[in-house]
Amino acid sequence: MPDTTTTASPQAAEKPAASRFYWGAATAAYQIEGSPLADGGARCIWEEFSHTPGNTHRGQTGAVACDHYNRWPGDIELMRELGLDAYRFSIRWPRVLPDGTGAVNARGLAFYDRLVDGLLEAGIEPFPTLYHWDLPAALQHRGGWANRDIAAWFAEYTQAVIDVLGDRVSHWMTLNEPWVTAHHGHLTGEHAPGIRNIYAACAAIHNQLRAHVAAARVIKRATPDAAVGLAFSNSAVAPATDSPDDIAAAEISHAWGNFPLWLDPLVNGNYPEVIAARLQPYLPDGYENDLADLRLAPDFAGINYYFGGLVKRDDSDWLGVSGVDEPGLPRTAMNWIIRPEGLHALLTRLHQDYRLPSVYITENGAAFEDRRTGATVDDPQRVAYLDSHTQAVLRAREDGVPIDGYFAWSLLDNYEWAYGYTKRFGIVYVDYETQERVIKQSGQWYSGLARDWRSQHA
Ligand code: GCO
Repeated sequence: MPDTTTTASPQAAEKPAASRFYWGAATAAYQIEGSPLADGGARCIWEEFSHTPGNTHRGQTGAVACDHYNRWPGDIELMRELGLDAYRFSIRWPRVLPDGTGAVNARGLAFYDRLVDGLLEAGIEPFPTLYHWDLPAALQHRGGWANRDIAAWFAEYTQAVIDVLGDRVSHWMTLNEPWVTAHHGHLTGEHAPGIRNIYAACAAIHNQLRAHVAAARVIKRATPDAAVGLAFSNSAVAPATDSPDDIAAAEISHAWGNFPLWLDPLVNGNYPEVIAARLQPYLPDGYENDLADLRLAPDFAGINYYFGGLVKRDDSDWLGVSGVDEPGLPRTAMNWIIRPEGLHALLTRLHQDYRLPSVYITENGAAFEDRRTGATVDDPQRVAYLDSHTQAVLRAREDGVPIDGYFAWSLLDNYEWAYGYTKRFGIVYVDYETQERVIKQSGQWYSGLARDWRSQHA
């Protein structure tokens, strides 16, 4: 079957292949920190969602998670032991601005100040994400991402963070997976804030774009040399058959669920042509008036990638597409199909269609049923997953895609949102009873990959 996301390899690289390449790992505040209300912090929408009975596995919450808020020095030592040279983490908005706007909570911001200093002392580049789904509950009560004012609220929050961290951070991501915020949070309701309203979902799309641009301008005004990007959720979609209907369905699914929904407005100043008419009835009145102002291409694209799948035309669906199961293929503990070639195809398509100066793989990894035996955790399936996917990334880089780093998801086993603690993605095992960390076989393997790369590309 033709894979519509596979296109001819791009032309020769615009940057020397020997340019810097970061080998890192990624986490997110709500998934690892715990102590949500410590030192003047306030509730986020995931506190309210996870404390609501029925929303998460056995009502599990991020109240403790990996206790990273207290154990961060040891976790930095783990990163140093693993030989990582970058760490992607997120900043919890309601730690910094408990009411979402207004008074800055200096003690909350001081946690990230210490974390950044600790990373730099360990020779690890900080790659903060400003928003990884933990909106202050106070702002949700004012309409959240469906309220047009959130662009100004997000810019105010960004300014408060930049004022303290801007002198030491050179790479920023504004938003993590804005599609998941809009879709899971406002259309299906499976994530916080648990809304099921297509108008709210499309307002969340539009306002996240506006908020990203507002935050990017704050960062650039304060620190012109910093690189600003955002991390997109992606899957490798391919048509179930080579019929024109299914090929068109794959293009719609790619535009809706992958980077085009965000990069077309930011790079070209319009929503993707194949879905614009479908979104139009649900986007905020007057959204067209914002499009010119949204045209601010990011310095880099963050690509989150986990799996691939087939789609077909389905007129019963609001977008006209639906997934097609592929029984018998290797899957992860999330039941996601393992498809490393899909990552190469997406990266090739990204570069061919948008020609951004830089790309990072900001999340890639897999959950498997890890078992600890004494002091070791053997996870050969994760080693094989990371091996095949990092090979796909390096092949795309050799083909000319300007990829400057790879972040394994995740540094630590952690709170997998509505799944609670039932899915382990870490290259480091966390015993949630004792909070003991154990570097898995995959962590040792990844450490060797990073070290070998550096010795060959010094
Ligand atoms: C996401 C989020 C992460 C998840 C990871 C595994 O991509 O959904 O950024 O927080 O935990 O992807 O699902």
